[in-house]
Amino acid sequence: MSRSIGLIGHPVAHSVSPRFQGAALHAARLNVIYEAWDTPAGELEDRVASLRDEACLGANVTIPHKQAVLAVLDELGDTARRVGAVNTIVNESGRLVGHNTDGHGLVEALRKDASFDPDGQSCLLLGAGGAARAIAFALLDAGAKVAIHNRTRARAEDLVSDLDSSAASVVDSADDATGYACVINTTSVGMDGTGTEDESPSQLDGAAPGTLVVDIVYNPAETALLKRAADLGLPTLGGVAMLVRQGARSFALWTGEEASVDVMFEAAREALGEHSK
Ligand code: ATR
Repeated sequence: MSRSIGLIGHPVAHSVSPRFQGAALHAARLNVIYEAWDTPAGELEDRVASLRDEACLGANVTIPHKQAVLAVLDELGDTARRVGAVNTIVNESGRLVGHNTDGHGLVEALRKDASFDPDGQSCLLLGAGGAARAIAFALLDAGAKVAIHNRTRARAEDLVSDLDSSAASVVDSADDATGYACVINTTSVGMDGTGTEDESPSQLDGAAPGTLVVDIVYNPAETALLKRAADLGLPTLGGVAMLVRQGARSFALWTGEEASVDVMFEAAREALGEHSK
């Protein structure tokens, strides 16, 4: 029996998840297809209910449903409950369990793709939206200290209050990178199609040599922030790493097997190259 996994979002046509998940499923010789399931808000409940079919392993969830989907699931993993957002649903014999692999993906990418262990390190996190929430919880779990800057300060304050940790704080400046081992952009500044492609969310003032600069924006591959970091001689990590690492974690939750991340990286880069043409 061929089984399925899908991506639930709106729009989903340009998503690269079907490309790299499909490549990894093929490489693992699993008889599973990964499809893009375009789902407007009014169809979310029915779409999610359809995941209970025994031929379905689960789904990814993306914009704009990551929070709304919580209400129609049977159970939530610890991380998804704390973050308040779901990016992965697993069909456990008709019971739909929500997970969030975004934060784990970022921390895995730091460790494996940038050789950076967050334990005991001070990180500057730019942004306080959904992605920032997932990443902030994961960084604290990994033993990091997290200073959060957001354009709308109140949102950063709310996040720090939810994090409920003396290792989390709000800071006023996005540009002052003094004293951090790592700077992570989770805002959409610099992303293709936003009109901010030439803007860097931080000037990285005062960054010490060796400060790791991370952008979770993966389109373009080299954002204005990463260009600025490279000009300053700082090590960088682009957004494809988190994209693939969160996907690999989801793959393991659905299939019980480890994904080939090399296959995922290659397929994701190929898909993104095609999109930017
Ligand atoms: P996501 O789920 O991808 O994190 P989001 O929840 O919409 O998306 O959050 C977007 C983040 O990018 C927010 O931190 C947002 O700042 P505000 O809370 O002030 O809106 C940030 N952001 C978007 N455009 C920005 C800009 N031009 N300058 C600075 N921050 C921006």
